Amino acid sequence: MKSLLFLASYVLLALPAASHPGMGEMMGNLRRESAKAKRADAKQLIGDLKTLADSKLTAIGKDIKAILLDQKDARSTTIDTSIPPGTVDSAACKADLCCVWKWISYEMTAKFNGTSGRCTKLARGAVRLGFHDAAVWSNSTTYGGADGSILLTDEINRSDNNGLSAIATEMKAWYTKYNKYGVSMADLIQVGANIATVVCPLGPRIRTFVGRKDNAKAGPTGLLPAETDSADKLIKLFAAKTIDAHDLVALVGAHTTSQQHFVNTARDGDPQDTTPGVWDVAFYPQTTGSPPPRVIKFNSDINLSKDSRTQPEWQEFTGTTGQDHWNEDYAKAYTRMSLLGVNNINDLKECTKVLPAARTSFVNQDQVLLDMWLQGQFNQLNNMVDDAIMLTGVVSTKDKREKE
Ligand code: HEM
Repeated sequence: MKSLLFLASYVLLALPAASHPGMGEMMGNLRRESAKAKRADAKQLIGDLKTLADSKLTAIGKDIKAILLDQKDARSTTIDTSIPPGTVDSAACKADLCCVWKWISYEMTAKFNGTSGRCTKLARGAVRLGFHDAAVWSNSTTYGGADGSILLTDEINRSDNNGLSAIATEMKAWYTKYNKYGVSMADLIQVGANIATVVCPLGPRIRTFVGRKDNAKAGPTGLLPAETDSADKLIKLFAAKTIDAHDLVALVGAHTTSQQHFVNTARDGDPQDTTPGVWDVAFYPQTTGSPPPRVIKFNSDINLSKDSRTQPEWQEFTGTTGQDHWNEDYAKAYTRMSLLGVNNINDLKECTKVLPAARTSFVNQDQVLLDMWLQGQFNQLNNMVDDAIMLTGVVSTKDKREKE
């Protein structure tokens, strides 16, 4: 099938694009499919899936293997809207593996959803925390990864983790409350990242697996990226985590929700696109374009948007079909990320059903005020935007004009 695809794209590439209407689009699609097939061929397995024979795989093991090999979607709409069978310490709840996670999902969703409908700084912190726990791993380290060590040791105090203190405090409190019901810190962090992602409007609903083991040993240093890194350094750093350049571009798209605090402390709270707290694709074109003055661009993102190995995908996510394409690719790439260093993947269980429903459309009701803020007015609203509070009602455009 793949060789047929290559042959077809070769033949079509040899023909002049103008010879048939729609030929350009068809060639574009074929080129994309052919690049996708090549990428899928190069995908690496991780953890116990590297050595386990197919005959030994559980149903979950098979699914995760297919996701890692780019053969299966990592998103799911399977949802359980029923209330949990009992309180968290009831016998009925203890008998149902996902029951405790349902309670946790309720608590996290309440903290991650702002009154504006955007996701809060705790949600964005949870996505970043998931990345920073898991990515402290490479194929040459024998420990680290999605093992909870970021919060079980003093790893969190490393400068890489500046900006994560609020979510760290919250996550530790959840761990204290739920660890007695068998919840590991490693799972809490990764389930938290997936709940936060789907709570952000337009975010993908990523299949969510539990059963990771905790590790009380701090992970190796030097494995997290810096805002000053070149594209080459980033591509190599992520390649050593089995994450290819394409998936790296998909993962950094999480910056679409971001408001930075430490890259430029004089611009505390400035977002990376015009819609902070929304999982849209505005970040990609705005990193290469000229957004309003309050939008801040990271050098690392600018570098990735320009490098020949990452620029084509950056463009793809920018296009009109970018949102679904990005969500699909992000979900697969993050599933891989959330399993780095996990050596019992085949034994994991699935609790996707406890996640809230995805919100596939969203309009900022207070965009007029957000736009004024993005132009550099309304500094007093910084914290409210960070907490995803609805700005309309807090201050009206009329009040603002009267003050000017
Ligand atoms: C590729 C290299 C990356 C670099 C250099 C980088 C660096 C940073 C930095 C410096 C911040 C701002 C922290 C602050 O000042 O408060 C940030 C924010 C953020 N990063 Fe990344 N990051 C990278 C990739 C990723 C990935 C792969 C993810 C998720 C999978 C991610 C998720 C986030 C999120 C959600 C925020 C926003 C946090 C908030 O609003 O509080 N980043 N990143």
